[in-house]
Amino acid sequence: MSIGIFDSGIGGLTVFREISKEFPQADIYYLGDTARVPYGNKSKETVIRYSVEAANYLRSFGINALIIACNTASSYALDLLRANLDIPVIGVVEPGVETALKYTKNRKVGVIGTSATIRSNSYKSLLKKSGISVYQKACPLFVPLVEEGIVEGEIAELIVREYLDGLVEKGIDTLILGCTHYPLLKETIKKLYPHLKIVDSSQAITDFLHRENLYFEGTGKRKIYITDESENFERFKNMLVGNNIPLEKIELSRLCTL
Ligand code: DGL
Repeated sequence: MSIGIFDSGIGGLTVFREISKEFPQADIYYLGDTARVPYGNKSKETVIRYSVEAANYLRSFGINALIIACNTASSYALDLLRANLDIPVIGVVEPGVETALKYTKNRKVGVIGTSATIRSNSYKSLLKKSGISVYQKACPLFVPLVEEGIVEGEIAELIVREYLDGLVEKGIDTLILGCTHYPLLKETIKKLYPHLKIVDSSQAITDFLHRENLYFEGTGKRKIYITDESENFERFKNMLVGNNIPLEKIELSRLCTL
């Protein structure tokens, strides 16, 4: 049984890492669309097109489940992929919402994500159904910060405060990291706002897979593909999942007609 996972870049590796730990026997194929990162400032149509192309590429490995390890793609392309693929398709939004509902005591939840994710209101509309007060904020500088490897220290703290101080002042007790890049800033966020419960999609998704009774057996194969060379991707991959998992660059033309 094999799983396909995709993201625009390194963010989804946080999901890859958790799934690898939870399902050591599964064969896992990861695609980081590094040639076209970021997705978070693109239009809905473009995000859908990229997501369909990523899904089709991963389907060529005969995967039995697809995980959209990108909030932006989950917000726009989940329904379409679910309707068109005959395998389970799991996004990161529902698991994040379920975890936030478990965490919040005062029913005030903050959601941060890319501009596209926040614009889609994907989290807000689900949380509202449970009567939660939702405070959202797009944090467009977080993805380039993470892709540059600046995840702690003075600059990271300054930028985190710039986006989050106002949100925290609303009295939220739970913060959803609605972008798979953001868990790499989690320690800085925790340091600045230690009272917040933080929802990290990479952990939320493994709980969700267990609840849905999805289990994966295989030979424990791991493959990571990227659509363009990226030193930072390689560095983070080695840091997050080790350097014994091969990284292969593929031509973007394998995903789409250029
Ligand atoms: N990691 C992605 C997400 O969860 C997208 C980052 C980006 O490409 O803008 O939204």
